[in-house]
Amino acid sequence: MGGSSPNCLRDSLRQALHRREAKLCRRKLTVLPSSSVDFSSNDFLSLSTSPAFRARFLNHLKRAPPLHPFASGGSRLLDGNSAYAEELEEFIATFHNAPSGLIFNSGYDANVGVLSTIPQPGDIIVYDELIHASAHEGMRLSRAGKRVKFAHSSPEGLEAVLQSQILADPQLRDGQRNVFIVVESVYSMDGDVAPIADFLEVVERLLPRKNGYFIVDEAHATGVFGPRGAGVVQQLGVEDRIFIRMHTFGKALASHGAIVLCCSDTRDYLINYARTLIYTTALGFPMLASIRSAYELLAEGETVQLQRTLGQLIVYFRTRLESLSAWGSSIFEVDHFTNSPIFSLRSRVPRQLASVCQQEGYIVRAIMPPTVPVGRERVRVCLHAGNTMEEIDGLIKTIETWLQQTEKKTARL
Ligand SMILES: Cc1ncc(COP(=O)(O)O)c(C=O)c1O
Repeated sequence: MGGSSPNCLRDSLRQALHRREAKLCRRKLTVLPSSSVDFSSNDFLSLSTSPAFRARFLNHLKRAPPLHPFASGGSRLLDGNSAYAEELEEFIATFHNAPSGLIFNSGYDANVGVLSTIPQPGDIIVYDELIHASAHEGMRLSRAGKRVKFAHSSPEGLEAVLQSQILADPQLRDGQRNVFIVVESVYSMDGDVAPIADFLEVVERLLPRKNGYFIVDEAHATGVFGPRGAGVVQQLGVEDRIFIRMHTFGKALASHGAIVLCCSDTRDYLINYARTLIYTTALGFPMLASIRSAYELLAEGETVQLQRTLGQLIVYFRTRLESLSAWGSSIFEVDHFTNSPIFSLRSRVPRQLASVCQQEGYIVRAIMPPTVPVGRERVRVCLHAGNTMEEIDGLIKTIETWLQQTEKKTARL
């Protein structure tokens, strides 16, 4: 024992970090000035700074009886449960037109809880290749016999994978084994909306015994897409054909945590088996009150105007970006999908572009592998209901100046 092994460990940790540094993908925590303009966070409705949200939240806190515990008290299965939490689950489930809901401490925990427990031995998970890291973590822990990816947002890709799995395993065709199809409704890095209706058509045609179960992660759709921000599944009116929906509260809802919307048997099963629910301290009253405040605003239609404003800003930013298309050279390319507040500015030097924008007071972030595949590095720009057209003009001007200077430098080489 003694001093050598800790040094050895530290050396290997440092080497790993140096390798990341060399590949320009070492992650660092950063704090940007609060005076900077937010073009980065997932606070799409700007609810976190909304006076209406703050007033409602504080009112919920104030209305709590004296000595009402502000701390959680334990796991949901022990002292962390409350009538308030259960009523909130019912309220959210009703809003989402779902039979029941179960709150987890985060979307990460919800995905891990669902995917690690629900697929049974012999079942198959078929997932979109760009699915979030938390879904990968859940699948890694799952007892499913196989996990197979399909090409991003491709109904043809899903069909090809399903067909080959059904050919290989007659029990799938007979309905004796289950297939779980895991997708996001809006992808976090590209902002594209999944073709859920087409996926449903493929799965219901190939698995007529109804043993194809959809798990849809609505993290980036919550509050932003669908009627009163209820999500893409409700926009399509296909709630009944989706086995599990997962909505997170940490993005547009200015809170923390997530809900799994499912039937009551599935809810019960998760309460019994999901370790990310059982072995962790549940959310305390203040966070539940925050989630309640956000959902009340959604349910009362108070966020619809924010959704509209965001929609107008999306159109404006897209039009302004088109004015930069003359620069659509090797150093800059824009990926954007209609209605999405997430824009991907692809560049070979995303860190440089992000840093220039940050110096000018605009928070945007470079997204590097392994968060996105190699070759898909980008600067991710997120719009918010609280952004202004002037701020967008300022960001566009900064990008334009950078492009002009970079092109000049490249031409001189
Ligand atoms: C698609 C998706 N699912 C799940 C999560 C995890 O949610 P949370 O931040 O609540 O843990 C995220 C967060 O980045 C996400 O983008």
